[in-house]
Amino acid sequence: MGSYWEDRFQTEGKVWGETPSVITTKVISSFRQRGVKQVLVLGAGYGRNTKELAKYFKVDGIEVSGAAVKLAREWDTHSNVIHASVLDVKLPQKYDAVFCYNLLHLFKRQERNVIIDKCSEFLRKGGSGFFTVFSDEDSSCGKGSLLEPNTYEYKQGKFAHFFNELDLSHHFANYTILDTGSFREQLHYAHEHSTWIDLRYVSFLKD
Ligand SMILES: C[S@@+](CC[C@H](N)C(=O)[O-])C[C@H]1O[C@@H](n2cnc3c(N)ncnc32)[C@H](O)[C@@H]1O
Repeated sequence: MGSYWEDRFQTEGKVWGETPSVITTKVISSFRQRGVKQVLVLGAGYGRNTKELAKYFKVDGIEVSGAAVKLAREWDTHSNVIHASVLDVKLPQKYDAVFCYNLLHLFKRQERNVIIDKCSEFLRKGGSGFFTVFSDEDSSCGKGSLLEPNTYEYKQGKFAHFFNELDLSHHFANYTILDTGSFREQLHYAHEHSTWIDLRYVSFLKD
């Protein structure tokens, strides 16, 4: 999967433009209410969301694509983006909060569990998490070949897991879930058209 993202960032640059996700407003407000100071962003890309979060918090990001890390370091100078994989990164500190936008659905079940378990290692006791993922209501759900339950190769060489609400809650069963919900987001691609995607979110606490 690393080379898929590397190729995309190398050829398209800021793939989804410079505007942060619509959900960042909710994330910022929720983290501020909880007194969050330090945030870790998983799958930070070129800094589309970290740049907005860094107006309010001290932000570290984890990103596997070298091309994206280079873009982020040039464009989002207030965040610290670390070139590593979330699957095996070891970090020297604990964070008040973890934000993960549209990364988790890119993995099969075993690796999704690794990422979710790693959040417990990243977060301090009482820390907050906020994940967004593809919804089973997205138009790509059910397309292509079925690889695992609710996981489809919906484009050649690209698969995703599509979450229903219960499945999402089950994934985070070892945390205290504060809130779940769904939303639609319009992605504006840097060089071409725009598209709507259907997402779910989960907000949780590490006890
Ligand atoms: C759908 S993109 C979202 C990027 C960013 N969150 C945004 O909204 O602009 C998924 C991101 O996760 C990164 N990624 C994929 N696998 C990763 C891994 N194992 N560790 C860290 N980042 C990863 C990709 O390179 C890509 O930047």
